Amino acid sequence: MIKTLLMNIDEPDQVEIGRVRERGGYAALEKALRMEPAALIEEVKASGLRGRGGAGFPTGMKWSFVPKNSDKPTYLLCNADESEPGTFKDRKLMECDPHLLIEGMAIACYALDCHLSYIYLRGEFEFIAHTLQKALDEAYEAGILGPSVCGRDYALDIYLHLGQGAYICGEETSLIESLEGNRGYPRIKPPFPATHGFLASPTVVNNVETLCALPWIIANGSAAYAAMGTEKSKGTKLFSVSGHVAKPGVYEVEMGYPLMDFINNESGGVPNGRKLKAVIPGGSSVPVLRAEECEGVLLDYESLLKAGSMLGSGGMIVFDETVRMPEALSVIADFYAHESCGQCTPCREGTGWAAKILRNLIAGKGKRPDIDLLLKIADMMEGKTICPLADADVMPIRSFITKFRSEFEELCSN
Ligand SMILES: Cc1cc2nc3c(=O)[nH]c(=O)nc-3n(C[C@H](O)[C@H](O)[C@H](O)COP(=O)(O)O)c2cc1C
Ligand code: SF4
Repeated sequence: MIKTLLMNIDEPDQVEIGRVRERGGYAALEKALRMEPAALIEEVKASGLRGRGGAGFPTGMKWSFVPKNSDKPTYLLCNADESEPGTFKDRKLMECDPHLLIEGMAIACYALDCHLSYIYLRGEFEFIAHTLQKALDEAYEAGILGPSVCGRDYALDIYLHLGQGAYICGEETSLIESLEGNRGYPRIKPPFPATHGFLASPTVVNNVETLCALPWIIANGSAAYAAMGTEKSKGTKLFSVSGHVAKPGVYEVEMGYPLMDFINNESGGVPNGRKLKAVIPGGSSVPVLRAEECEGVLLDYESLLKAGSMLGSGGMIVFDETVRMPEALSVIADFYAHESCGQCTPCREGTGWAAKILRNLIAGKGKRPDIDLLLKIADMMEGKTICPLADADVMPIRSFITKFRSEFEELCSN
């Protein structure tokens, strides 16, 4: 299977620029610099690349929303906040191939006529900050970044910014607020970052994996990328798999790869002779699938949606038959209650209320009406808030309860 993201992952010294250049690193950037920025955007559009941060929005189209003749500078912000439970794919890229990210960012910046860019790194990833900073320093020393990128009449600076470890700062407008030095509160959209983003200027926020896909696309052409995957989900995708599998880790597969093959082959299957019970395919914010619902499902945006879930961030969590679903849901609900920024009443009150009811249920203090109350709280949160964090809590609450209701009822005294 072709690798477009993890192709260098087993190579030693990928954090040494000399080795990186030997294996052809930054050749795609040099090719991009010989192209017109507009042609570059068309190339990314033609590749069919969709944002890997969770929403799956077409990358080239997002770039084309940036106004061409603004009197303000354009910014590219790399979203390296990766805090979605179960998701650890961006971390792998940054730890093992930081120059791939820098090359992808430089390509995106050139296409967007951006001269100043930031990597917003999750606070808990301080250990990766050292690797990224070393790679940035090397890129400056080699003339890849700075006043004359690869010797061309194009200046680019990339700075690393370490967040403070708040899940909400991965939401793009919250990330922008945080980078501006403010509290990480999501903004009401519109206006969108494309016109009013960082410092009220045109801004593109892209995920690490999205940006890392660019060097391969430019080096090999959009047609080669679009030839992989399905009709609407192109290219390859990283999945981080955790939970009850023999080989947890990060794997790259072509879009449209069968979910059960991924669990049984790439991930080594469910260990200890136990049965598969459920799978969360795309991070804790997406609906859970029962084992029988996973049969025939493909790992792409459309197939997972049809199956009643979503591809999300690609953070797959596998549950075997020993998992008690109310307990798993309680852990997830506690997370969202803790991470709500508190701006919107339905989210601030709803996430905390749901988490409390679930803790009560598990402690054996629940009653049957509590189960329907949880579903009602989910209805009251859905679609009524500034950002989708509340909806991210709704998806697991609703799907866990409707698909495993008897397990919740067993915990109730009446
Ligand atoms: C609560 C919340 C947390 C998010 N966390 C992340 C994150 O950690 N990393 C990320 O890339 N996108 C995250 N997103 C999505 C971003 O808002 C944004 O859509 C994404 O960075 C766009 O990049 P892409 O187009 O390359 O996918 C989050 C969204 C929400 C609502
Ligand atoms: S939905 Fe929740 S996290 Fe998002 S802005 Fe409202 S309160 Fe904050």
